[in-house]
Amino acid sequence: MPATKQSGSETRSDAIRFVLDGEVQTLRGVDPNTTVLNYLRETLRRTGTKEGCAEGDCGACTVVLGELDGDRVRFRAINSCIQFVPTLDGKELYTVESLRAPDGALHPVQRAMVECHGSQCGFCTPGFVMSLFALYKSEPVPTRSRINDVLAGNLCRCTGYRPIIDAAEKMYHSDSESEGGWTHRPYEASSEASSGESESVERLRGIQRHGTLAITGPDLQGGQRVYYAPKSLSDLAELVNQHPEARILAGGTDIGLWVTKHHMDLDAIIYLGDVEELQVLEANETHIEVGAAVTVTAAHHLIAEYYPDMGEMYRRFASPPIRNAATIGGNVANGSPIGDSMPGLIALGSSLILRKGADTRELPLDEFYLAYQQTALEPGEFVERVRIPVEPTDRIFKMYKISKRFDQDISAVCGAFGFRLNDGKMKDVRICYGGMAAIPKRAAECEKTLEDSSWSEVTVARGMEALDRDYEPIDDMRASAGYRSLVTRNLLRKLFLETSGRAGRTRVLRQDPETG
Ligand SMILES: Cc1cc2nc3c(=O)[nH]c(=O)nc-3n(C[C@H](O)[C@H](O)[C@H](O)COP(=O)(O)OP(=O)(O)OC[C@H]3O[C@@H](n4cnc5c(N)ncnc54)[C@H](O)[C@@H]3O)c2cc1C
Ligand code: FES
Ligand code: FES
Repeated sequence: MPATKQSGSETRSDAIRFVLDGEVQTLRGVDPNTTVLNYLRETLRRTGTKEGCAEGDCGACTVVLGELDGDRVRFRAINSCIQFVPTLDGKELYTVESLRAPDGALHPVQRAMVECHGSQCGFCTPGFVMSLFALYKSEPVPTRSRINDVLAGNLCRCTGYRPIIDAAEKMYHSDSESEGGWTHRPYEASSEASSGESESVERLRGIQRHGTLAITGPDLQGGQRVYYAPKSLSDLAELVNQHPEARILAGGTDIGLWVTKHHMDLDAIIYLGDVEELQVLEANETHIEVGAAVTVTAAHHLIAEYYPDMGEMYRRFASPPIRNAATIGGNVANGSPIGDSMPGLIALGSSLILRKGADTRELPLDEFYLAYQQTALEPGEFVERVRIPVEPTDRIFKMYKISKRFDQDISAVCGAFGFRLNDGKMKDVRICYGGMAAIPKRAAECEKTLEDSSWSEVTVARGMEALDRDYEPIDDMRASAGYRSLVTRNLLRKLFLETSGRAGRTRVLRQDPETG
């Protein structure tokens, strides 16, 4: 696909600019499929960042991004193995090498790791350090449980996590706290930047662009690949319409693996992460609106406030570095039958705002999936927003994620349930399971059986039988068909035990889902 001519008065940039160790890096002609990890190790020879799995699972490749947020810099850990280099544009990149001060002093995180004997093997340690560095830069002193959550994406298979968790607690009390200019100053959008951070803010301001990033880079076969990163919704819509064959890139946590594991060539990419209008995240009386560029991390707290069970599921969705990149829009658009967002969103009656050019349409999410990995998206159309209803408080909503591991695991089955009780009778029942069919699918037979029935042991038994008619699950490495069927039935029973005799949605106002 040739690079398109610029439209209207839009100015285009062909250079990727990001900050590394306080210096602005300018790159041109990079293959847009190059991962940040490969660029670091093979081009810059910064080999502190390691490759373990190349699929976002182990955390050995963790690096930290600094991004402008008003007058502050917001830090987030990501997996460099599945992020493409052009997505660094406009950001600051920290690797484990960035942490050492010019005088050689260790960062408090590194010092604490040494003192607590947390540095166990050379593969995992840099990743642990970077996850802890992001925590140190982002939050007030955390609880031990929060530290566990933060480290859920960093795997150690040799000795264990205790010394590392000890180090995470100790890093706030390190004697070297003020050495090398590092201070513990948790991120708060409203507070003022420190002097060091002000310099970062200025550097980042200097590399923000207004128009589309349009780069062309060589592939390994001597061909050309293109990558666009528009800044506005209208430019994005125009590009997607002009190039319906291009791959839309959001957080890249599915797409990255197509390159690293399936060795696919992505010849044309349109990145939506820089579009301001897609960062919308707001709730009103009737809806929660989640723009397509909003990450799971960013949306988690607001959704959890209304639907604590969804919050719990998102706490267990992948790992913090994945959630820091992955979007809910990408989860929904990817349409995996085992994706975790869809059962809950469908049981809540959510819809999608789809855009093609200047036109938009609203489609109920349960009408979006046509067949295995086939959606109702037309060529040139994309997901602009996910719209989640704010349900009346007499509605009950519950959901359950069943996976082999508690953290960082894909669901074998995920079940979500919405209904209200009117004089003891079930009304407006919506049930959806993931992992049970080729698409996230509503349990139509079960819903019919439960509708207008009293919420009783007898109804549950009938509902469990109906579920067998709704689904014919498959055997795979996550679970056998028999296990899936049994769990699906048992989740309905669990729902009954947890909700019978109790009407009303549990709404926990302003609870922090990470810290409780
Ligand atoms: C280690 C690991 C663990 C994971 N664990 C989980 C888990 O527990 N639960 C779970 O559900 N998923 C999990 N995933 C899968 C993945 O993280 C999610 O599907 C994620 O939400 C995808 O979002 P993204 O922004 O990264 O999408 P991308 O990878 O950028 O895109 C995914 C697909 O959606 C399309 N797309 C993205 N945005 C749009 C849009 N706005 N309009 C149209 N098309 C679009 C892309 O073209 C692509 O086809 C995991 C992935 C990894 C690597
Ligand atoms: S190398 Fe394992 S998460 Fe990136
Ligand atoms: S620290 Fe690398 S396997 Fe334990």
